[in-house]
Amino acid sequence: MNYPFWDVDIGYGILMATIAVIHVFVSHFAIGGGLYLVVAERAARKVNDTLKLEFLEKLSKFFVLVSVVFGALTGVGIWFIIGLLNPAATEALIHNYVWGWATEWTFFVIEIAAAILYFYGWKRMSGRDHMIIGWIYFAAAWGSLFVINGIITFMLSPGEWLATGEFWDGFFNPTFWSSLVLRTGICIMLAGLFAMVVASRYPADKLKARLMRYNGVWGIAGLVVVVLSMLWYWRAIPAEITAAATEMMPTPMLSLWESQLFAIALAVMIIVFGFIIPRMHNLVVAIIIMALGLGWFGAYEWMRESIRKPYVITGYMYGNAVEMAHGNAYQSDGYLAHMKFRTGDDGADLFRRACRSCHTIDGYKPLKPAFDGTDRSFIAAMVMGTHVMIGNMPPFLGTEEEAQMLAAHLHGRLDNRHVSEIYGIQGVALGQRVYEIRCGKCHEVGGYNDKTASLAGLDDVDYNDILDAAGDFADEMPDFTGDEVERAALIEYLKTLQEGGTE
Ligand code: HEC
Ligand code: HEC
Repeated sequence: MNYPFWDVDIGYGILMATIAVIHVFVSHFAIGGGLYLVVAERAARKVNDTLKLEFLEKLSKFFVLVSVVFGALTGVGIWFIIGLLNPAATEALIHNYVWGWATEWTFFVIEIAAAILYFYGWKRMSGRDHMIIGWIYFAAAWGSLFVINGIITFMLSPGEWLATGEFWDGFFNPTFWSSLVLRTGICIMLAGLFAMVVASRYPADKLKARLMRYNGVWGIAGLVVVVLSMLWYWRAIPAEITAAATEMMPTPMLSLWESQLFAIALAVMIIVFGFIIPRMHNLVVAIIIMALGLGWFGAYEWMRESIRKPYVITGYMYGNAVEMAHGNAYQSDGYLAHMKFRTGDDGADLFRRACRSCHTIDGYKPLKPAFDGTDRSFIAAMVMGTHVMIGNMPPFLGTEEEAQMLAAHLHGRLDNRHVSEIYGIQGVALGQRVYEIRCGKCHEVGGYNDKTASLAGLDDVDYNDILDAAGDFADEMPDFTGDEVERAALIEYLKTLQEGGTE
């Protein structure tokens, strides 16, 4: 905990996703577009297809503007944001991969220089030289993907690196190759989609139909590679990660599902406007197709980022920048003793270091609704039990006393009325809400770590016994500290549970 904490109201995840998704959308096009341009140029020069060459020149202007200006700016933006959001993880990536980054940077400089030369060379260079520049561009651009892919996949599946600390063990990690093929597929697909934007400006004639068919082939070919390598990629992810996601992580599973819907919608649009009615293609359609592509990419990247939880670097550092290697030191001395930057409000500092990178109090992934109407001792117990809750969160490695301080900080910012008053409910409805708040984060009825089988069909005495002994069931399970009204309502609700699950 060597860095200050950056307090922004907007959620860290949202901020990161916004800049990262825009960047990858453009940077993958920057690679696929390079391949598209030289392959198409070669074919067009062979038959002296001047109309196609004119189209390619137009496309290359759009391409240089988008990839060199926009891609480079957002790329720097990512470094800026990750440096602010998680300086410790950024430091770890730089330390381990300094030569990787240097190589990537070199590729990038070559890429930029070649892109500019390629654009200026249409009329000023021989066809052969022009295409050589184009190939240099593509090789450098794909080379930078190769390097970055090693580092990004390392974060999810560091493999042998955890034991050896060797550069190449982390680089050629278990998801390296599937992700490289997947991302290459994305590049090819995006080349087709972006070229459709330029083609949409053409009048509805034969040339447009020809261009759209050609772009459609790129779009569909890329999409096929994407879908197949996605299956490969999912299988290459270590099984314990995908199993945890399926069992207790709603976010990545939802994103995975969304990405499938986007892929289907994209396929339909590309087939319809690429092959069936290409002359009807226009700017609005092009924008819809681009939006679907962006949606697909956003869903995929969101899945990839969220499935890595509770880690930012699997097995090495948690999402809240707590390093696993220091776990014992934290547990014995507490987090506060290791924080270089403290604000004077210890409860707030603990909240920042332990929870704030993923939650806010009442904004993004808010904790207020989860804790409104509860008490400090319950909140402190939940803080100590985050690692067994739904969501696959990092454990709280501070001391019990620090959990109490964090709880006091949260408690002071909640609605402290009774649950019945806050929500205006009573009876079974109140009981159900009490269950959701006090039990449901660890035992989802009909879902994650369901306890219905143990809880259904008991009588008042049994229920009271369970609630009296709640804290003894497991280290992480909180005592029941709700008031008498909540206890009665909860029991009333528990009586409605039926083995095999209620609806
Ligand atoms: C690495 C990110 C991360 C960290 C750090 C983290 N959480 Fe979470 N938390 C999540 C995710 C993801 C969920 C699942 C719910 C969702 O996806 O919206 C969740 C869910 C929860 C829930 C259940 C919320 C609900 O409404 O169902 C509570 C309560 C909670 N977290 C408390 C905490 C506390 C307290 C801390 C700090 C001690 C903490 N979390 C640290 C990511 C995190
Ligand atoms: C912070 C997480 C957490 C909360 C909140 C929580 N539990 Fe648990 N509970 C556990 C853990 C951990 C275990 C023991 C390991 C296991 O069975 O998953 C457990 C075990 C149990 C068991 C024993 C299950 C069996 O197999 O017989 C029951 C019953 C149970 N909990 C009911 C409840 C009820 C009712 C509530 C709400 C009043 C509750 N729990 C709240 C974490 C929690």
